[in-house]
Amino acid sequence: MSVAGAVRAVTTLRLSEMKQRGEKIAMLTSYDYSTAKIVDAAGVDVILVGDSAANVMAGYETTLPITLDMMIYHARSVVRAVNRALVVVDLPFGTYQGNSKVALDSAVRIMKETEADAVKIEGGEEILESVQRILSAGIPVMGHLGLTPQSIHKFGTYNVRAKEEAEAEKLLHDAHLLDEAGCFGLVLEKIPAALAERVTREVKMPTIGIGAGSGVDGQVLVIHDMLGITNDFSPRFLRRYADLNGIMSDAVSRYVGDVKSRDFPNEKEQY
Ligand code: KIV
Repeated sequence: MSVAGAVRAVTTLRLSEMKQRGEKIAMLTSYDYSTAKIVDAAGVDVILVGDSAANVMAGYETTLPITLDMMIYHARSVVRAVNRALVVVDLPFGTYQGNSKVALDSAVRIMKETEADAVKIEGGEEILESVQRILSAGIPVMGHLGLTPQSIHKFGTYNVRAKEEAEAEKLLHDAHLLDEAGCFGLVLEKIPAALAERVTREVKMPTIGIGAGSGVDGQVLVIHDMLGITNDFSPRFLRRYADLNGIMSDAVSRYVGDVKSRDFPNEKEQY
């Protein structure tokens, strides 16, 4: 990449301007080169190399097992494909909690080894020191509050978070802390729409919702879910834009049939 092209067209500053003028931000996950190329060319503003790769790419039940090395592999593949979108990479479980020096080392590895633009971290006050230390190194940080899947063993379910007043108050408090620390954005996952709207009104940084209603500054979905590759996950917030599971299953069965019946390859498909 040339020096002039070293910064992608969508920057953290541009996201903040989008919030100010009320332009919605479209964010989607990607984990590989070919998908990221399509997503970028289609005009998505932010590509998240999410630790949901643990689920949809590696088949784990939770996001906890994915390692920093695995995230770096996915992020490198995505970055090679992207010209326009801002690329954000999740810091995986165990690489930032409890020790801000470890958090900084993890974020530095992501930035150096992948050439992504920013990192995302789950949590509020508990991980504030890590957020501040990463930010102090000039690395943009996106927060993530509400349903934070890395804490699934603490919550015990993937149900809607912050329905009770005490949890909603804590979420608001955490959002303000992340905003004041200088995060450039905040994912709000599976919380009541009214609470997400209030956070969005009260913080400077753009908010990106997933199951958080329409009063946020942007939306994010996991690409395998919105394309219908996964069909065993149907939360209320998910809109499916395609049935790739059906399309792929049909194509693969037709291929199997053609091979078995000797229809493939035909005379034109050989040398
Ligand atoms: O890992 C991920 O895909 C995420 C989104 C659900 C926001 O964090």
